[in-house]
Amino acid sequence: MTVTDAPLRAYDPVSVSPVSFWAKTAEEREESFKILRAERPLSWHPPLEGGLMPPENDGVWVATSHELITEISKHPEIFCSGEGFQFEEVPEDILTAAGSFLGMDAPQHGRMRKLVSAAFTPKQVAKIHAQIKDQSARIVDGLLAQKEGDFVAQVSKKLPMWTIYEMVGLEDDARREEAAHHADGMVSWADEEVAAGREPGEVLTDSLVSLLMLGMDLAAERRAHPKADLWTNLVEVEVDGAKLTDEEIGSFFVLLSVAGNDTTRNSISLTMRALQQFPDQKQLLLDDYDGRIVTAIEEFVRWVSPVMTFRRTATQDTVLGGHDIKAGEWVAMVYSSGNRDERAFDRPELFDITRNPNPHVGFGGGGPHYCMGNFVAKMQLRELFDQLLHRAPTLQLGEPSYLTGNFVRAVKSMPYSL
Ligand code: HEM
Repeated sequence: MTVTDAPLRAYDPVSVSPVSFWAKTAEEREESFKILRAERPLSWHPPLEGGLMPPENDGVWVATSHELITEISKHPEIFCSGEGFQFEEVPEDILTAAGSFLGMDAPQHGRMRKLVSAAFTPKQVAKIHAQIKDQSARIVDGLLAQKEGDFVAQVSKKLPMWTIYEMVGLEDDARREEAAHHADGMVSWADEEVAAGREPGEVLTDSLVSLLMLGMDLAAERRAHPKADLWTNLVEVEVDGAKLTDEEIGSFFVLLSVAGNDTTRNSISLTMRALQQFPDQKQLLLDDYDGRIVTAIEEFVRWVSPVMTFRRTATQDTVLGGHDIKAGEWVAMVYSSGNRDERAFDRPELFDITRNPNPHVGFGGGGPHYCMGNFVAKMQLRELFDQLLHRAPTLQLGEPSYLTGNFVRAVKSMPYSL
């Protein structure tokens, strides 16, 4: 979609576009978002620096308030996902292959989401719960066996990857490692250390093609030899006479690998750090784990905001936050800012595990794309923190090393000792 007769506007003086902005810590970025939320909750910015291709537009709207994020999310007919969902320009073929139904609008989005939901049966979810509990105990066994190391590698990385590929039915460890490695590539191509001298586009394409192939190969295997797993359900499931194609299943594998890995991984790392920074909150949780964990998990997700941004495109001329938006213009939502909004949360700068109500936008601002895996993520956090807090009481974390990027708030490594 091209934007016609877009007016010339001044860019906001508080810029969020440079790579250097997204190389700062979340606390440093919050200083800028705080100003924007208070004074200009919808602001106009130059296209983001460091994208895979030169920008085709001359700016992007950035929504930083809780109110605007929910308004945008709940009006997909005005703010659509089918024209891309990343803050920066991404080649169209990559978007289609990587986005699955995250990058679709009605009616295709509803059809795909319905088909996939039909494959996540209650029986499957119950089965995975018992396995997540068991796997969390094993991960903490491994942690306790090694007095010091990297918490991300030893703990945070393990459970999300294990859960996703267990659900999917990806069996051997080598293929799981390969998939998780490429899932990382999908979100970290902008990081110089990860790219290690390769072109960012090369890292992304390599990861994307590898994941697509893994998903499609697995679909072919399950068609030939069905098993009791999600991938078998996906190749067999039928809604209103329609089945998923191999390309659709491959693309969903990419979406699951990305959506289900980094998000929960970083929630684990940064929640563990928050519990260390706020020892009174840790004690409160330990005093009544079963009674407080459900409420606490909402605060974990608000506090960490592992998915920092998503974008929509205006389908028509409209008015948002008092500004005239032209059809085709981009509107980015900063969830991490919405989750610190003083108008939606009392003392948002405090990590409060008893916060209730907690209308955070960590899983999205509502609407049709609301995180489909939120219940799986919550199961993982519940079982893993049960193990960590009760069995590793002397755990100490050092300073995290962060990934540079505007999408996922990611910790590359974080030292621990027992
Ligand atoms: C704490 C962990 C997680 C966070 C913070 C998170 C966050 C999000 C967000 C912000 C969205 C977009 C919402 C929107 O556009 O309105 C999303 C979508 C999605 N998430 Fe999650 N997610 C998490 C874990 C997971 C897990 C574990 C899975 C898979 C098992 C998953 C699967 C998905 C899928 C499939 C979508 C696309 C839904 C759609 O477009 O209809 N997520 N998630």
